[in-house]
Amino acid sequence: MPWRPRGAPEPELRAGLTRRMLIASGLLALIVAAAFAVLLASVADLRASEQSTRRSEEVVVAANRLERLVVDVEAGERGFLVTGQDDSLDLWRSGQAAIPAQAEALHRLVADSPGQLALARRIQQDAAAYIRDYSTPLVDTAMRDLDAARTQAASGEGARRIDAIRAEFDRLVGVEQGLEVERQARSGAAGRRAIGAAVAGLAGSIVLIVVFAAYLSRVIVRPVRRVAAMAGRLAGGDLGARLPERGVGEIGVLERSFNKMAGSLQDSRREIAASRARIVAAADQARRRIERDLHDGIQQRLVSLALELRAVEASAPPELRQRLAAVANELVAATDDLRELSRGIHPAILSEGGLPPALRALARRSAVPVELTADIPARPPEQVEVAAYYVVSEALTNAAKHARASVVRVAVHVLADNLHLVVRDDGVGGATAGPGSGLVGLTDRVQALGGTVTITSPPGAGTTLVVDLPIEGP
Ligand SMILES: Nc1ncnc2c1ncn2[C@@H]1O[C@H](COP(=O)(O)OP(=O)(O)O)[C@@H](O)[C@H]1O
Ligand SMILES: [Mg+2]
Repeated sequence: MPWRPRGAPEPELRAGLTRRMLIASGLLALIVAAAFAVLLASVADLRASEQSTRRSEEVVVAANRLERLVVDVEAGERGFLVTGQDDSLDLWRSGQAAIPAQAEALHRLVADSPGQLALARRIQQDAAAYIRDYSTPLVDTAMRDLDAARTQAASGEGARRIDAIRAEFDRLVGVEQGLEVERQARSGAAGRRAIGAAVAGLAGSIVLIVVFAAYLSRVIVRPVRRVAAMAGRLAGGDLGARLPERGVGEIGVLERSFNKMAGSLQDSRREIAASRARIVAAADQARRRIERDLHDGIQQRLVSLALELRAVEASAPPELRQRLAAVANELVAATDDLRELSRGIHPAILSEGGLPPALRALARRSAVPVELTADIPARPPEQVEVAAYYVVSEALTNAAKHARASVVRVAVHVLADNLHLVVRDDGVGGATAGPGSGLVGLTDRVQALGGTVTITSPPGAGTTLVVDLPIEGP
């Protein structure tokens, strides 16, 4: 395995969830930023269009004012021709005085539109030419000779010039209004574009957020929920629980580690069960060997000795016969004790006759009366028989020792691939596997074979021991 600094992520993790998350967030930020950029550009457009619309209105107002000044000059000149009064010339003079400033204001407003600027200059020149070449000479003439001036005015040249200037004003205003319509259309388009950008940005963000949430749920939330469910099954003892290993990045690592952990737990449990079974089998084998040694060796020798003693007794002098008889009786009693002891170490009857006769022998020897039903169609494996025998033996001993029971019922039969064993007494109850060694050792033996033990012993209501031993082994 290549060396990695402690705490550094596994290589595949670097390309895992963090990177995907960054990409998704970056994408979201990009869409939002793009929508805002379009929105801001459109708003700027909108403001520019509004400004130029306002300026168009100002141009029209300035043009109207200038036109009125020109008209004032003509009106003042005509009034003087009619009245001959000098004060009629006030309008004529004030109009002339105001024209340059007003023309200048108009020029400034149309400065960035060359066509309009040229037209405004022409209007100013024509107005100046009208005043210089026509209106001023006419007023001069009228001051000297009113009638001559009236005759000159009747030629209509003044009216023609003024009409021409007013036509120029009309053109300037018309062009400006056309421009305004164009700008308003542009500002409408900018407004629509701004709304479109806002809507598109919002919709894009919502879609992306929904997609992102669905993606997170698929790659993180659901797998984590699966892991939690599997961890629950594992905690409940189902060590065969496994996860599908298709998660992304860290989740995939979590799933693989979880499966590895469950696998190791299952292996350990299998090894422990196998080693427990081996220990129990080895102990049973040792007990069987001791029992055989006792039976075939010492027991046989004691029986031969007793027979020999009986023979000696027959031919012995009368004074010795009584003592020899007593020794021979003691020897027979010792042989019986030895047989009883060896049966406790390993019941030979179990290996020879199977479980029902062995259980009947136990029942016969029990201090508490026993009702036994044993229904076993075929002989189970030896270790199952031995375990069942010890369960019943311990239960009967307990019933006699602790329960103060009047009867014990023992039932053994085969139930769904298990040897099913129930031992029930009607004693004082209150049994627990713990303080003594009997029930604990028995539970160990049964579990080593993959079986289960249930002890139900409420105080005053008797004790029931239910044991299931798999016949095919764990
Ligand atoms: N059938 C029973 N009725 C009442 N109490 C029992 C019974 N079996 C066991 N017990 C109680 O449970 C304890 C544990 O039993 P066991 O493990 O067989 O140990 P031991 O028999 O060596 O005391 C006993 O000490 C006893 O107090
Ligand atoms: Mg006991």
